[in-house]
Amino acid sequence: MPKTFYITTAIDYTNSPPHIGHAYEKVLADVIARYHRLKGEKVFYLTGVDQHGQKVQQSAAKAGVPPAEFVKGITQKFVDLWKKLDVKYDAWAETIDPRHKRVVQGMLQRLFDAGQIYKDKQTGYYSVRQEQFLTDKERGPDGEFGPEWGQVESREEENYYFKLSQHKDWLLRYIDNRKDAVIPDFRQTELRNAVEKISNNRQSGSDLCISRPKSRLDWGIELPFDKDFVTYVWFDALTNYISFAGYDPKIDNYEKQPPEFRDRWTKDTLQVIGKDILVPAHGIYWLIMLHAIGFPDDAMPQLLVHGWWNISGAKMSKSLGNIVDPFALADKYGSDALRYYLISDIVAGKDADFSEERLGEDRYNNDLGNSLGNLLNRALGMVEKYSARIVSRGNQDAVFEEKSAEGGKYASLAEFRRDFVEACVAHYPLMMDSYAFQLSLYEVFHVVRSANFLVDVAAPWKLAKQKARLADLNAVLYHVIESVRIIAVLISPVLPKAAHGIFDQLNWKMELSGKEERFRLDDAKWGGLPDGHVVGKPVPLFPKIEAIL
Ligand code: MSP
Repeated sequence: MPKTFYITTAIDYTNSPPHIGHAYEKVLADVIARYHRLKGEKVFYLTGVDQHGQKVQQSAAKAGVPPAEFVKGITQKFVDLWKKLDVKYDAWAETIDPRHKRVVQGMLQRLFDAGQIYKDKQTGYYSVRQEQFLTDKERGPDGEFGPEWGQVESREEENYYFKLSQHKDWLLRYIDNRKDAVIPDFRQTELRNAVEKISNNRQSGSDLCISRPKSRLDWGIELPFDKDFVTYVWFDALTNYISFAGYDPKIDNYEKQPPEFRDRWTKDTLQVIGKDILVPAHGIYWLIMLHAIGFPDDAMPQLLVHGWWNISGAKMSKSLGNIVDPFALADKYGSDALRYYLISDIVAGKDADFSEERLGEDRYNNDLGNSLGNLLNRALGMVEKYSARIVSRGNQDAVFEEKSAEGGKYASLAEFRRDFVEACVAHYPLMMDSYAFQLSLYEVFHVVRSANFLVDVAAPWKLAKQKARLADLNAVLYHVIESVRIIAVLISPVLPKAAHGIFDQLNWKMELSGKEERFRLDDAKWGGLPDGHVVGKPVPLFPKIEAIL
């Protein structure tokens, strides 16, 4: 039985509505999930929201609403956005869910019983924004705590601690043994350096404080062994990855976990996260938590770390007033165009600057409208005009040449097929499997441009006037229509609506219209369109948007 491909994202804080950074991560994971479905794999895509903790409690208090009510409203905004952006997940994580609470408490109890959690007193500086005590390591070169920590205050508190530092050597060994534990590899190096710095001495703050006294924070999951405390929000949130995948906290032997969980959770489980939450949250806390509850090394997940969308080089933030609203962009350009922009204008792993001008001009008007939309439109228009909407193979080896003083133009159908379409289909999985989404889109759109060029050189409107060239005319039209069909398959993970639009207009697999199963990578083989196929009428896919800014 083939295993399910299990993919997760970070779960977003429900203290404020989603912005373009949240949208990027969920779309990125959705593209990967859709690509795996395209390959015919079974996929389980989990995403959701992080509803507990101090940030949320504070935002709710500011709004004058009880936290439970406050998170409901914000959660709905995330759900609405994913619907709008065609983010198609298989399971939805909400940390207030009783199922999740049971798993968090079950895990804590097991770790407590195994002596992995102990009670201690701590005095020191505490960051309200990051909800953690700070050590001298967190001070900047000027000896002060930087603005990223927000308000820092002095505190003394009794709390429960998880013996993180005890697992430092294991984590180093694991990272050294698995070269692709973290992708891209410069992030793995970053993680390794951070793990090296963990001190073996608890006094330096190396163990993880996993509780908060209810006296100052009660919006969380109660510790099963002390009702005066709630669970630290990160320990609660990280657990979502297993609690919503069928993990049973009562079973400590990993091999004996329910089959449903074993089918999903493998070393290929892909966890998509932003660069800010690799160290320490996912790279240290999470991997050690899994190890401590008995996950073997060959069941450690893979972390895919993406970069950030910035605004003119600066972080998006409420205080700077530069938050980009994904709802407004999707309303203006459509969800496909926004998805396409978010995937094609950033190298997975690196940061990028958000620019509405690039989204509107370069991506929407040029790539989608003038190149792809135009290709489909002119192809269907010509088949309608010259061959009563019937596509036939014609002379598949036709060559078109036009001599002129400037050197002339040349196009060969065989070369177009081999060097553009088939080459792209062959490269596509290699690029997608190595997370080079930007590159794969570039190559697919290169096929779009070369198909437009083929039409320009072959000039079907001239061929149509020469009876003797009917077989050449038919072959050009076949090549353009067939390449558009293949392009639709390849763009379907990123541009699902456009892919359906193309298939609908090509009158192709109509019985699966609107369904994701309509697209299979195996169908991206040249020649799939039969002789005599009747296409539909052209309808503009990406109508021109005037006055973008
Ligand atoms: N709740 C935690 C994650 C818990 S996961 C068990 C959290 N939430 S968050 O809302 O602050 O961020 C959620 C995700 O969005 C993170 O992966 C973060 O990196 C990502 N992004 C937040 N702002 C971003 C950009 N400006 N650009 C790209 N992604 C960014 O952290």
